[in-house]
Order: sequence, then structure tokens, then C-alpha cells
Amino acid sequence: MSNSKYILVTGGAGYIGSHTVVELVENGFSPVIVDDFRNSQESSIDGIERITGKSVTLRRIDVCDFASLEGVFSEFNFEGIIHFAAHKAVGESVEKPLAYYRNNLLGLINCLDLAVKYKVENFVFSSSCTIYGEPKNEKVVTEESEIQIANSPYGNTKQIGEEIINDLVASGANIKILNLRYFNPVGAHFSSQIGELPIGKPNNLLPAVAQTAIGKIDKITVHGNDYDTTDGTCVRDYIHVTDVANAHVKGIAWLQSQKNSLVENINIGTGQGTSVLEIIHTFEEVSGRKLNWEFGKRREGDVVEIYADVTKSKAILNWEAKKTVKDAVKDAWNWEKRISD
Ligand SMILES: NC(=O)c1ccc[n+]([C@@H]2O[C@H](COP(=O)([O-])OP(=O)(O)OC[C@H]3O[C@@H](n4cnc5c(N)ncnc54)[C@H](O)[C@@H]3O)[C@@H](O)[C@H]2O)c1
Repeated sequence: MSNSKYILVTGGAGYIGSHTVVELVENGFSPVIVDDFRNSQESSIDGIERITGKSVTLRRIDVCDFASLEGVFSEFNFEGIIHFAAHKAVGESVEKPLAYYRNNLLGLINCLDLAVKYKVENFVFSSSCTIYGEPKNEKVVTEESEIQIANSPYGNTKQIGEEIINDLVASGANIKILNLRYFNPVGAHFSSQIGELPIGKPNNLLPAVAQTAIGKIDKITVHGNDYDTTDGTCVRDYIHVTDVANAHVKGIAWLQSQKNSLVENINIGTGQGTSVLEIIHTFEEVSGRKLNWEFGKRREGDVVEIYADVTKSKAILNWEAKKTVKDAVKDAWNWEKRISD
């Protein structure tokens, strides 16, 4: 094991990446961010610096540009890599499949290739619960649950990403890889210095709810009220982004403790489902504002109910979610108020 504390964080200026960079600094690592800001803003770097009191090491590089990325590998002796950089909007991926396959797969291949070439053995890949699709007979999925045919190019990039990783490890490459399958990251840092900054119309529920409460959006539509769930609306496993970030620090530490090449898949969720209506009502309670919302038609391709079995994350990473959905809603609301000032 090398003594380097440098961790390459691709996409480190983004939503989950910026929170992970903070957790890494707070746990004694020296993160190096590679990001080209295609879906983030410089203000997230300022936010990280305000929280940690340390200056951020940043290289403004496209991970698909192999030569430039290699320059970063020759500059730093990395102990590990956390690969977040990717496009992430399911709907957009249906309209621009090639852009999604190019960025998400080429970026991953470049990072893996350079990890092997520069002998960086500890690698964390951002996977997603989308790979489980609509679970057939279960609402709670384990890492052994069947992977369903992807219902979007985005979901397919995560499935293919995991296959590429399996093939690389099977080829005998000297690398240890954790595929962290996140459920639904929400909330913001409690300091309100960093959070989710959707460019354009938000795709995710919490930013949409927060923008409705602040008046940026007129009304939100809840898609479907007749599903077979507690209140008829879709159910997800919402997990605080700070908890997600912490799972990466635990993940790197666990990889460091392992001797042999491996690939391990781990769900990152709370183990509890929350419905869309429950989120809206929690938001109204926390913000003290009445939200303007209405029921609309079911949306094509929406998974009805899914949440994580978290046995493995506890057993292997010694990690579990500490914050509640209410904490996340509170932090998301404080963040929205701050960026709307
Ligand atoms: N947020 C979620 O709900 C969620 C759920 C499951 C998985 N994930 C995965 O987690 C990862 C991070 O997601 P996020 O929500 O923080 O997204 P984000 O868009 O906020 O962050 C991604 C960052 O990567 C950067 N980036 C993208 N392509 C790049 C490239 N070619 N070169 C350099 N930088 C590039 C963007 O500028 C952005 O800063 C992604 O891989 C995403 O697919 C996210």
C-alpha cells in the first residue's frame, strides 16, 4: 500500500462529488478534482473551500480526453479513484443516446485504463439502483436481485459500466473495484454551502419541490395516484447526500484493507421507502409553506416502488445512513433559500 493520500475525484464539482470531496478532506485525504463543469458551477468549489477551510486541487479536464487525463495521473501518485463524472438525466439520455454512451463509457474506460497503467488499485464507480429496473416480485432489492433490461440509455451505461468492470477484473488486472449502487440521493450539506444545482428544469423530485416552494416553478405534478402503494404514489429510497458521500470514504478505506483484485457491488440506501406525497407533506411541514401541486397521469417507465436491502453495506463497509428524510428535506430547503437570495 502506498502512503499517498491523493484521491482522484472525477466529477468532484458536481452534486455527490462535492459532498464527497468534503468528507474526504475531513477524513485526512487529499482529493484532486477533475471536472470540466459541463453540469456544475465554480461556486461548488468555493463552497467546498468555505466548509473545509482548505484550498481545492482542481484540474479542468474532460475525462474523455485521454492525454489530458493521463497528465493528471503523472502529476499525482493516487491512492484511489472515485469516478463520478457522467451524464445522469434519464429523459435526456433517451433523446441523446450517443452523448450518454460516449461520455459515460469512454470516461470510465479512460479512468480504468489509467488506473491499471499507473497502478492505482482502489477504484469506486458510481453505479445506480436504475440497474434493477422494476423489480419483479420484490420491493426491496439486494445486490443479488436480478438486473433488468435497462429502460433508458442512461441505465444501460451503468449496466455496461459494471460489465466492463467485471471483465477487467476477470482478465487478471491488479485492481479492486467497488460499484456503489446509489438509490435516491437528496438534501444538501447542513452548512448550505454546497447542494444540488440543477441546470435548467430539475429532473429530481426534491429540487422541483424546493423550487415550487420558493416560487421558481408554478406547480408540480405528481405522476400517478393509483399505484399499488400506501398512498397510491411512487415510492423511493431517499438518502441524504452527506451519507452517500461518507460511503465513499468508507469504501476507499475498505478497498485499502483488501489484498487481492476484486469487484464488489453494494447498495447505498436507507432501507426505507418514502412516497412522493410523503416528501411533499414533509416539505410543507419543514418549510411552513403550502405547496402548489396536482395529480397527473402516470409517467411511462416510472418504477412503482423500490428500496435497498442494506445488509451488505453494513456488513462490508460498516456504513449505514445516519440522517433521516426529514433532515434531507430541511437541508434541501435551506439550500434553496440560500441560492435564491
Ligand atoms: N444524483 C443521483 O440521483 C444519482 C443516482 C445514482 C447514480 N448517480 C451517479 O452518480 C454520479 C454523480 O452524480 P451527480 O448527481 O453528482 O451528478 P452531477 O451532474 O451533479 O455531477 C457530475 C459531475 O461530472 C462532471 N462531468 C460530467 N462529464 C464529465 C466529463 N466528461 N469530464 C469531466 N467532468 C465531467 C459534471 O460537470 C459534474 O460536475 C454520476 O455518475 C451519476 O450517474 C447519481
